[in-house]
Amino acid sequence: MPSTSQGVVSFHKEEPVQIVEIVVPEPGPYDVIVTVEACGVCHTDLHYRDGNITDSFPFLLGHEAAGKVERIGPSVTEVAVGDFVILNWRASCGSCRSCRRGRPWYCFNTNNASKPMTLSDGTPLASALGIGAFATRTLVHEGQCTKVDPRVPAKAAGLLGCGVMAGIGAALNTGQVRRGDSVAVIGCGGVGDAAIAGAALGGATTIIAIDIDPRKLTWAKDFGATHTINASEIDPVEAVRALSNGNGVDLVIDAVGSAATYQQALSARDLAGTVVLVGVPNPNERVELSLIDLFGQGGSLKSSWYGDCLPSRDFPALVDLYLQGRLPLDSFISEEISLGDVEEAFTKMQRGDVLRSVVLL
Ligand SMILES: NC(=O)c1ccc[n+]([C@@H]2O[C@H](COP(=O)([O-])OP(=O)(O)OC[C@H]3O[C@@H](n4cnc5c(N)ncnc54)[C@H](O)[C@@H]3O)[C@@H](O)[C@H]2O)c1
Ligand SMILES: [Zn+2]
Ligand SMILES: [Zn+2]
Repeated sequence: MPSTSQGVVSFHKEEPVQIVEIVVPEPGPYDVIVTVEACGVCHTDLHYRDGNITDSFPFLLGHEAAGKVERIGPSVTEVAVGDFVILNWRASCGSCRSCRRGRPWYCFNTNNASKPMTLSDGTPLASALGIGAFATRTLVHEGQCTKVDPRVPAKAAGLLGCGVMAGIGAALNTGQVRRGDSVAVIGCGGVGDAAIAGAALGGATTIIAIDIDPRKLTWAKDFGATHTINASEIDPVEAVRALSNGNGVDLVIDAVGSAATYQQALSARDLAGTVVLVGVPNPNERVELSLIDLFGQGGSLKSSWYGDCLPSRDFPALVDLYLQGRLPLDSFISEEISLGDVEEAFTKMQRGDVLRSVVLL
């Protein structure tokens, strides 16, 4: 029998979200119903609401979540009822061309639930990143559930499901930070601060936080930034060079994703340095590149999808680091809110008032 849930739905581009009743279908093969306990508000939810990802409205938002397995469909073997899980949007399929070449962290065809959740009139909902967790319960594929140590509070665990994993992975997996490296992070929201934490875990000795909001720079120090640059006051490229003997840094992580910040990232790296783009650009952004400069600079330009993570490998390890006091997940949480506060949380995010608002259910 289908069940119902309360969910936060975005019906029209750039219009306020609404809480409505949604229908969760009977779980099909490999499907799992999860009772959501906590779900962080990520900038990508706002990108969906603003029509920057696709225009397949209506969207059921929320994708940075943890909860308990409530029901399982036929053939489910990876999780059992009662398991505490972090939801992920990389349930590697095992059979796409990337998985078959041993690179499941790029999986081009990740698994999702076998059927969509719907509005009560039957209209199918597109779930944000195939999850849809601003909802009391949600339907996902079993591979989207990563079982972790239940001693981690849901509000901290859920953060690993998107922004924190994306940031840490941008530094450690995509950027391959090594002991002694110099790293600059442009944009110190949840994702950027996680990249700073990742650079610190990887042994970077210079970690430069760059933002246009001084509050964000204060918070960035809590995650391991050794220097801060307010890009609304000084030229961040010159400031990075001044902090690196005029050379630029080994790795620049762009956690904003605008043409302006990407240009800064290109110019702030050392010879043979790396740029990692983890911020999601708006579709109209363009950068102009000098091909000879690109050649002369060497190094590599990479994009980081979900921090090139493998949830089964990375989530349990990061939970262990949290439980050992070596990863300050609680410091990302600016406020605990309810489902009805998501629209206001978007406003606070745009104003820079919060790192993460976390919906508790
Ligand atoms: N690649 C991925 O897999 C992935 C995963 C999650 C989120 N994201 C994306 O990462 C980006 C950041 O997400 P978030 O949740 O941290 O957002 P956020 O809004 O909390 O943080 C963005 C930060 O960038 C700063 N900023 C804006 N313009 C700037 C500029 N010109 N120079 C310096 N700093 C500037 C803001 O002050 C803010 O602190 C978003 O685009 C989001 O969609 C990507
Ligand atoms: Zn695959
Ligand atoms: Zn996200």
